[in-house]
Amino acid sequence: MSVHSEIKRITTETLRKMKFDKEKIAMLTSYDFTTAKMVDAGGIDTILVGDSASNVMAGYETTLPITLDQMIYHAQSVVRGTQRALVVVDLPFGTYQSNPEKALESAVRIMKEAEAHAIKLEGGKEVEESIRKIVNAGIPVMGHLGLTPQSIYQFGTYKVRAKEETEAKKLLEDAKLLEKLGCFALVLEKIPAQLAKKITEHISIPTIGIGAGKYCDGQVLVYHDMVGMNKDFSPKFLRRYLDLYSEISSAVSQYVKDVKNVNFPKDEESY
Ligand code: KIV
Repeated sequence: MSVHSEIKRITTETLRKMKFDKEKIAMLTSYDFTTAKMVDAGGIDTILVGDSASNVMAGYETTLPITLDQMIYHAQSVVRGTQRALVVVDLPFGTYQSNPEKALESAVRIMKEAEAHAIKLEGGKEVEESIRKIVNAGIPVMGHLGLTPQSIYQFGTYKVRAKEETEAKKLLEDAKLLEKLGCFALVLEKIPAQLAKKITEHISIPTIGIGAGKYCDGQVLVYHDMVGMNKDFSPKFLRRYLDLYSEISSAVSQYVKDVKNVNFPKDEESY
């Protein structure tokens, strides 16, 4: 038996059991093979191929421009880099909102072409029929409520959502609806910790928070933010575990110096 087949893949059922057993779920994003390999080796439970690739990998201001083909390319690379993590892939903007048939076609392409394990999409009641259609086709769906970056032009700001009673009430209703529709988990982005706690206690599926406090069943961060590759994004919720921006740029400066001073390569680095 190969080493490969001895590693047991995390499933949606594993996540459900983790909530039941009160074991927290750790999730990070990845968009490429090499990163996914390191993240998987670090023992992450689930990897999100987020449409944040639009910002992080392509340098766009929002998540809106990334296409389904581009998401599939990122997802294929990530799936090839993992043995253990459950790989969830974002449906990009415009591939599921217009009608449920289109939503199913988009989800099927991700599952078939990238061999992903689940998809994620943003929204509640507004995308109810799309979720129903995808779940009925046997595709696991992760929901995403609170700050939903694909709606940034409607919100007008990336500030904390659902501080007001009316929005908080709708959020709880949407969370219950997503559970009822058969979503296997739910991302809660940038909402008050007490609201995330209430939602987490009211639904049986795991909640995964980003800027949503400690009561969620799990946490997700964007990998590039968490390892400090991105200097320009410092929200309160972000904990940086490394300062790779400085580390990498000083390594590059040293390399430039070594090349210019003919200090690289040395004889022992030559044939
Ligand atoms: O695209 C993404 O990275 C996300 C996370 C912020 C949850 O949706």
